Amino acid sequence: MAERFIIANWKMNPATLKQARRLFQAAEKASRQTKATVVVCPPFLYAGELSKLQKHSLLGAQDCSFQDEGPLTGEVSGSQLRDIGCSFVIVGHSERKKYLKETPAMTAGKARAATRAGLRVVLCAENANELRAHRKKLRSFKDILVVYEPSSAISTQGAKRVAPASIAKTAKEFRKIAGRGVQILYGGSVGASSAKAIFSEGGVDGILVGSASLNPGEFSRLVKAVLIV
Ligand code: PGA
Repeated sequence: MAERFIIANWKMNPATLKQARRLFQAAEKASRQTKATVVVCPPFLYAGELSKLQKHSLLGAQDCSFQDEGPLTGEVSGSQLRDIGCSFVIVGHSERKKYLKETPAMTAGKARAATRAGLRVVLCAENANELRAHRKKLRSFKDILVVYEPSSAISTQGAKRVAPASIAKTAKEFRKIAGRGVQILYGGSVGASSAKAIFSEGGVDGILVGSASLNPGEFSRLVKAVLIV
């Protein structure tokens, strides 16, 4: 069976390293219950510490620089992320587009830099048109995980439920654009009660989980629900 992914995006949470350690340990425990690859994406500054606790799950970052190194105040490079134990990185998340005005050109630059650093890219796209724009810039999606992430479905931006059948339709469209073999994920208010249907009826290879990944009980139930797919 093709590899399946559960990617936990903690966003700018939790407030302290102590809480992050506890949350990560719960995610580690949950990750042992599934054959899916569980990737935890904490804020940058916790990743190095959490890599010391990492056994079964993998670590990812929520963003990276479009440059490999140099004078870029506040930025973090792909190779720095690799060095502290990250193997994945999310680029083009809808919150970065909305609040930080990140453009498709910036996202593509980050995806290229992350690939150069040996990170696996988790590229978010709102719709087929955005994915086409990325294809023009990147040419190939080899080794990139593509996330269908409609912003209106994100828990903090309306949490509009997208029916699994509609996810399946878009996932099919995304597959046509991205090319054969590219894994398509879905993100937007995925929780323990919706995860199973999103996998089985939504025809995706994985899920990007925000708020539900901050609740250890909910995240564990979600992982278990996916297990029986
Ligand atoms: P959410 O976040 O699960 O909280 O909606 C998902 C995402 O940011 O893609």
